[in-house]
Amino acid sequence: MSNRLEHLRYTIDRLIMKKQPYQARYFFTHLYSVSYFCTLLAHRRGLDAEIASTAGMLHDIYQVTTGTTEKHALHGAEESEKILTSMQSYTDEEIEIIKNAVKHHSKKRKIHEPYDEILKDADVLSHSLYNVNYAVIEKDAERYEKLLVELGCTSDELRETGGKANGASNTRYKPRLNIDESCAL
Ligand SMILES: [Fe+2]
Ligand SMILES: [Fe+2]
Repeated sequence: MSNRLEHLRYTIDRLIMKKQPYQARYFFTHLYSVSYFCTLLAHRRGLDAEIASTAGMLHDIYQVTTGTTEKHALHGAEESEKILTSMQSYTDEEIEIIKNAVKHHSKKRKIHEPYDEILKDADVLSHSLYNVNYAVIEKDAERYEKLLVELGCTSDELRETGGKANGASNTRYKPRLNIDESCAL
């Protein structure tokens, strides 16, 4: 396969398909949506969309392979390096950028390098747009608000989340109703 992003996706797909169906659904939707949002943000910010998109596909790889969230960003960075090196189609510099983005992606309240920030923001968009009837995760709220401004989104529906479906008040940010605690990091 000559398209290295598709080659990588094929490899990740096979790992996801070993999971239980409800986990596979989560990982397919989450990893692909983060990858797409990385593409969008890279275009917007003038960075390499393929590199950003690749980081999105890999960012929770340690959760896929081990089922644990503990230090998954750090271990995921190491795992990403191994996968990309084994593919023999990425330069050392590209691998370093992707590895660092994966390594830093859980630190949403800190600011790192531009590709790291794209990945964190894409992760936040994926969490926050999954279902507008779920509240935005508290630690994601500040980034999400900035992203809505950056992307020119003025719709109140994207902000007023948390319980509209069951008639509860529209508190903007509160602990999220998690479908799976392990999947929300
Ligand atoms: Fe994630
Ligand atoms: Fe994560």
